[in-house]
Amino acid sequence: MRVRHLSLTNFRLYARLESALPAGPLILVGANAQGKTSLLEALFYLATAQSHHAASDRQLINFLALHETQPFARIVAEVETQREVLRIEIRLILEATGGEGRLRKEILVNGVKKRLSDLAGRVNVVLFLPQDMAIVEGSPSDRRRYLDLALSQVDARYNFALGEYAKVLAQRNALLKQLQEKGGSADQLDFWDEQLCEHGGLMMAARIAALAELEAIAAPIHRDLTAGADSLRLAYHPAFDPTAAPEGQLGLPLQVPVHQVGLSVQDIQARLRQKLQATRAEEIARGMTLTGPHRDELRFIAGGIDVGTYGSRGQARTAVLALKLAEMEWMRRRSGDWPILLLDEVLAELDGNRRRDLLSRLNGADQVVLTTTDLNLFPTEFREQAAVWVVRNGAVAQT
Ligand SMILES: Nc1ncnc2c1ncn2[C@@H]1O[C@H](COP(=O)(O)OP(=O)(O)OP(=O)(O)O)[C@@H](O)[C@H]1O
Ligand SMILES: [Mg+2]
Repeated sequence: MRVRHLSLTNFRLYARLESALPAGPLILVGANAQGKTSLLEALFYLATAQSHHAASDRQLINFLALHETQPFARIVAEVETQREVLRIEIRLILEATGGEGRLRKEILVNGVKKRLSDLAGRVNVVLFLPQDMAIVEGSPSDRRRYLDLALSQVDARYNFALGEYAKVLAQRNALLKQLQEKGGSADQLDFWDEQLCEHGGLMMAARIAALAELEAIAAPIHRDLTAGADSLRLAYHPAFDPTAAPEGQLGLPLQVPVHQVGLSVQDIQARLRQKLQATRAEEIARGMTLTGPHRDELRFIAGGIDVGTYGSRGQARTAVLALKLAEMEWMRRRSGDWPILLLDEVLAELDGNRRRDLLSRLNGADQVVLTTTDLNLFPTEFREQAAVWVVRNGAVAQT
């Protein structure tokens, strides 16, 4: 798939951008702070309705526009997939409700308003960033966020469950806090437990399946990148073990990876329910939800070691690269379309061979947008077949 036309209004430093986008590789070149990353961010936003950094959406609205009576930012794109041409519009509107104002997000697909979760499966992007190292080396929340953003793009049910889960968790935590401080009937938790199990169980099942698929694609890529030395494993560590047998029953052998155990969504939901029952007193005492996918962890294992804990920078970088390249193929298999590839300054960190290798792996994609401050990082052959745009102070010029 690819974006054929992009229009930005008050998005970051782009007061206005109106441009057709070419198929194939497009290099955005420019000095620092000119708007290269912001353009990638706009394309990423089309797929996720989120920025890649967890920062607040209101930061996306152009500073100058904030002085208007109803500040807004807007992204409109014409997206071509193998099946259809879509017009996607996302509006961020700051409503003047006094004080800071409330931000409203509107999604329109072909002119019709849609729920946020209906954006899933329409536009798929894979974003390569220098800070992706955090997926391996950062905190568990970095890894959950990565998984959530990838899954939300291709799986509308996941996208919906993720949003609902966050709301349920907040409500349930508020109730637990209240029970901890003021006491009261613990039965009030039943309703929230049920909701937590419904959405949380679905999320866990989707994560298990996605990680198994991603691992199967990433392992050979990783072997390739390390000249056959190491294979990569993605080890899922859920907050509670859904394979643990209920009391009085025989457990499963520990060595069996969770995705091979064949647990259904209903099984996982039932086990989560039992777990919540068993830990209810403790949760009230602590005043928070102690189990569920908001506490899941994912580890990267290569050559028998945990790369996040014991790996070198180089090993972590290779693991991230293998994961990202796998994500690209995984999305293609899930949706039947090449995702749009966005690479922000990633070549600068790689040596010449790795650079050529990475670029050759992007070859078949319908659209690849790459940013750089230095065109010389690209091999001549690549530069010759790519479109090159100069980005300067929130405007682009085709060369
Ligand atoms: N809401 C906003 N309104 C106006 N300008 C903004 C807004 N948010 C960020 N900016 C400005 O946009 C610029 C950043 O643009 P961007 O990150 O896209 O640059 P870049 O070309 O990728 O630079 P670098 O090469 O340093 O990565 C910064 O100068 C920043 O202050
Ligand atoms: Mg940048």
